[in-house]
Amino acid sequence: MSSNLNVVILAAGKGTRMYSQTPKVLHELAGRSLVEHVIATAASLNSQNTTLVIGYQAEQIQTKLAHLPLNFALQTEQKGTAHAVEQAIPMLDERAKVLVLYGDVPLIKASSLEKLLEKIDEQSMAVLTCEVSQPEGLGRIIRNTKGEISAIVEEKDADDEQRKITEINTGIMAFPAEKLKQWLPRIQNNNAQQEYYLTDIVELCIKDGNKVNSVSCMNEQEASGVNNMLQLATLERAYQKEQALKLMLQGVKLFDPARFDCRGELEADTEVQIDINVIVEGRVRLGKGVYIGPNCVLKNCSIEAGTRIDANSVIEDASIGSKCSIGPFARIRPGTRLDDEAKIGNFVETKKAHIGKGSKVNHLSYVGDTEMGSSVNVGAGTITCNYDGVNKFQTIIGNNVFIGSNTALVAPVRLADGATVGAGSVVTKNVEAEQLAIGRSKQTNIDGWQRPQKNNGK
Ligand code: UD1
Ligand code: CA
Repeated sequence: MSSNLNVVILAAGKGTRMYSQTPKVLHELAGRSLVEHVIATAASLNSQNTTLVIGYQAEQIQTKLAHLPLNFALQTEQKGTAHAVEQAIPMLDERAKVLVLYGDVPLIKASSLEKLLEKIDEQSMAVLTCEVSQPEGLGRIIRNTKGEISAIVEEKDADDEQRKITEINTGIMAFPAEKLKQWLPRIQNNNAQQEYYLTDIVELCIKDGNKVNSVSCMNEQEASGVNNMLQLATLERAYQKEQALKLMLQGVKLFDPARFDCRGELEADTEVQIDINVIVEGRVRLGKGVYIGPNCVLKNCSIEAGTRIDANSVIEDASIGSKCSIGPFARIRPGTRLDDEAKIGNFVETKKAHIGKGSKVNHLSYVGDTEMGSSVNVGAGTITCNYDGVNKFQTIIGNNVFIGSNTALVAPVRLADGATVGAGSVVTKNVEAEQLAIGRSKQTNIDGWQRPQKNNGK
């Protein structure tokens, strides 16, 4: 047997109890499908060759995972776990170690699998077991008087005594490929479910004079499968709790670890504070001393040191400089770049916008397709009209520009350094340096104006 590792991931089942059109293994935990968690763990073990056994909605799964280095084996009819593994046989290297994983057991740890792989050689297989409080529905581990595994009995085939056993089969097993190929075709389906059980391989192994070793995993959640929405939510919380714990031990202040969700990767410097109900997606980097207020969503963004994001702000695909201030209630859309000390206030939306150093867009504005210099003041209610219904156009704003409230900047338009725009203007022409632009109709005052009168009930 070589040290090569081949991984087989079982994912052909329907997942009936999810009551969903989506195949079970594509349901997401922490923003990533269940099976992708398992694939990532297999990759971290340096698997030379990973085969996914698919059946129910195979095409959908294949399309979703097309970007990954995987083999697919099709199990057209789900005749049991042994039958599923058999479909992957043509993909296996005769001399490799084979690890069987489940596509719906997402939190299995690489460290447990490494221990399991150490327990096999040419003459022995290994089973990952787990001590659980509620073993109902799971295969029970039967041990002989020497404490060796002698069989695995499914709940439906177990007698009352066996049902009391709390050591269960996680389903995860490791084999020398050569033996696996010999044992699989000998498995029968004479059981309560008339399925080809992979668990029956234990007795074949022993019958052939080989050994069944075992490793027990660290905690129940690692071995937990997802069969329904309740189990999915329970594992999600367990996963989030673990991430929150890790962050707090690195010095991140989470106001409440139970109300924090990371669906990606968060890299945080020291003195970072995160208030409640914050959602982190994709890759997010927070510099030293960054404060994130309650109910913010941060997706694929970097925020430099000393910046404050106030409550209910949403930031996506953006890069935010240091000592900036955003929110409350700001929406920073893709392609936004804030230089240091910029301010974006409440009910402001930005998109493909570069906001220069110290510039302020404090209230009720839309700034899109815009290049803005430093120390600009954008008055409340300013809109860059970047779209004519077909094309998008740029607004270019220099340094030190002052834009009065309720201004419409009709792109393409350029305001040069030091320009001023009077409130309520519709700016359609470029404004040169230091000019004042006023683009609105003149006010007329009419003396003695008579307002319309109500004619009392007549
Ligand atoms: C299996 C084990 C049981 C173990 C439990 C752990 C067997 C016979 N039983 O039971 O001992 O305690 O897992 O969760 O192995 N699958 C296929 N094709 C099939 C059947 C299943 O790909 O024909 C896949 C499923 O998609 C799933 C996995 O194999 O990912 C387990 O199948 P499932 O039917 O859930 O097995 P259990 O009855 O839970
Ligand atoms: Ca199951």
